[in-house]
Amino acid sequence: MKTRITELFGIEHPIIQGGMHFVGLAELAAAVSNAGGLGLLTALTQPSPEHLSKEIARCREMTDKPFGVNLTFLPSVTPPDYPGYVKAIIEGGIKVVETAGNNPQKYLPALQEAGVKVIHKCTSVRHALKAESIGCDAVSVDGFECGGHPGEDDVPNMILLPRAAEELKIPFVASGGMADARSLVASLAMGADGMNMGTRFLATREAPVHENVKQAILAASELDTRLVMRPLRNTERVLTNAAVERLLEKERELGKDIQFKDIAPEVAGVYPKVMRDGDVDVGAWSCGMVAGLIHDIPAVGELIGRIMKDADEIIRQRLTGFADGRL
Ligand SMILES: Cc1cc2nc3c(=O)[nH]c(=O)nc-3n(C[C@H](O)[C@H](O)[C@H](O)COP(=O)(O)O)c2cc1C
Repeated sequence: MKTRITELFGIEHPIIQGGMHFVGLAELAAAVSNAGGLGLLTALTQPSPEHLSKEIARCREMTDKPFGVNLTFLPSVTPPDYPGYVKAIIEGGIKVVETAGNNPQKYLPALQEAGVKVIHKCTSVRHALKAESIGCDAVSVDGFECGGHPGEDDVPNMILLPRAAEELKIPFVASGGMADARSLVASLAMGADGMNMGTRFLATREAPVHENVKQAILAASELDTRLVMRPLRNTERVLTNAAVERLLEKERELGKDIQFKDIAPEVAGVYPKVMRDGDVDVGAWSCGMVAGLIHDIPAVGELIGRIMKDADEIIRQRLTGFADGRL
């Protein structure tokens, strides 16, 4: 399948694996790229730019296909060494960066002068247009159903994607709630040029996370996510568990007086414990509503192969059948 996204990134299928903290390591990024999609390493999972350089080199040993790096701009008191990470990306010969969390303008000139294409992930048409206006090459439009940070507007993809298509000139991919061929074909119908998946890739054989994480996603339904940190305007969609329900209780009790320190026990330092050690109930970790559509733990190649085969069938048989007046 050819779209503006496959052409922009030099990939075979219009499928991107979104950056995921403590998940976006070389094993997963390489598996996605080897299967013809675009795999992404997650920069901030590496404790320093030097570690990111090593991870890029490790990933390059596992694939000769293009792969990228996610660079997330977090609200933080002492920001990570972003210029250092950007340098590691450029010197590592990376050609695609997914930015997220905040406006990437400051780093665009350096990245683009080095021939890096930038896809900015955002959760509103307003921010997508801003990304287009500052010169981003593409955007990833992340709807309300997404795992991770859906923003504060709460617009689901059935509305957000066609709205983005009405306004944007640069290519965009649909993100949030994407799981299979139906997601891909629907996204293309709504004007996107491909799709980005997070939670679905977490439940694959190559995802370098503890088996408990994959089983938790398998067991979850579309009703099992919660929105936390809304009072701090840093909303995150996470899988529910006892720690998350405790966190929500604190949010109800403390109301507008709540501060980050009040919920730190449930959110700080949680990712390595969950992803590496398999302690899935220790705190809040991102997961999308799409968990309800995840019923197996396939190899990445199998998943992407199935999506592309089924998408072809939906387009050529089901949809063409309707258009031709067949049932
Ligand atoms: C466990 C997990 C960790 C994530 N970490 C990040 C991150 O560090 N940076 C980022 O930009 N997005 C992060 N995301 C969001 C994904 O890249 C992607 O946008 C989102 O998962 C799409 O929604 P979906 O889960 O419904 O596919 C994370 C998602 C998950 C599930």
